Amino acid sequence: MLCEEAGRILAKAKFAIAFTGAGISAESGVPTFRDANGLWRNYKPEELATPEAFRRNPKLVWEFYKWRMRLIAKARPNRAHLALARLEKMGIIKAVITQNVDDLHREAGTENLIELHGNIFRVRCTSCAYRENLKESGRLEEFLTSEDLPRCPRCGSLLRPDVVWFGEPLPQDALERAFELASKADVVLVIGTSGVVYPAAYIPYVVKEHGGRVIEINPKRSGITPIADVFIPKPAGEGMEGILRGVEAFLGGKGSDHQRRK
Ligand code: APR
Ligand code: ZN
Repeated sequence: MLCEEAGRILAKAKFAIAFTGAGISAESGVPTFRDANGLWRNYKPEELATPEAFRRNPKLVWEFYKWRMRLIAKARPNRAHLALARLEKMGIIKAVITQNVDDLHREAGTENLIELHGNIFRVRCTSCAYRENLKESGRLEEFLTSEDLPRCPRCGSLLRPDVVWFGEPLPQDALERAFELASKADVVLVIGTSGVVYPAAYIPYVVKEHGGRVIEINPKRSGITPIADVFIPKPAGEGMEGILRGVEAFLGGKGSDHQRRK
């Protein structure tokens, strides 16, 4: 029932967007942060995911990030990522704003993607403007096997993960684009976030403040649930497949691939 209602709201939306967190990647085997077995239950973020931690002990921080890169490199997009990419192809979802750094939305085929917290497969220099996407440059394997601290090929300074650490500003262009999309959206589909990390967690609130509706998929209540018009208490894969069925049923004809409107 809830999925059908959510499907109908999305199918009738003029400008629907999605906002995702670590929960959408849980079924791909990527650990979340604040669940029972989440990363921040077993590791101290202040020791591993802050600029101070990196200055203090870059070797420890790189060990943690290389462990996460290896784990995520083995992960595949799950049915929730794939359903979201399909809704974009159908012209229903106009953009995906994600807090995740795992690259799984892009791998699933999502095109209009905003990564608010960076991308774990990108590295950048701590001194100059050098940046590299290790997947695209084909140097990921070599990078992960090297024992040395990674250094910039241009100026020799330390390289760091191109992700947003606690206490750091989000990439300005990504944040501006996300807020601009949220102020235009009449529906936001929120999937798998605890909704406690700002400024990202403002996104659904911006949609709501502009008169938009909030659909949330999460097995547990979150910081977004209080403003959800439809709350689907399911894991992302099950919820997204239900919503996709709801959209296709509403549009009539199974799998209608017609581009409703670009
Ligand atoms: N399907 C959907 N949601 C799930 C699933 C699942 N299978 N499993 C867990 N969840 C939900 C949890 O109930 C929780 O609400 O996903 C959410 C995960 O919350 P967090 O671990 O806090 O992850 P997230 O909200 O993405 O964290 C935001 O915090 O540490 C920073 O930068 C990091 O981007 C991250 C940000
Ligand atoms: Zn450099």
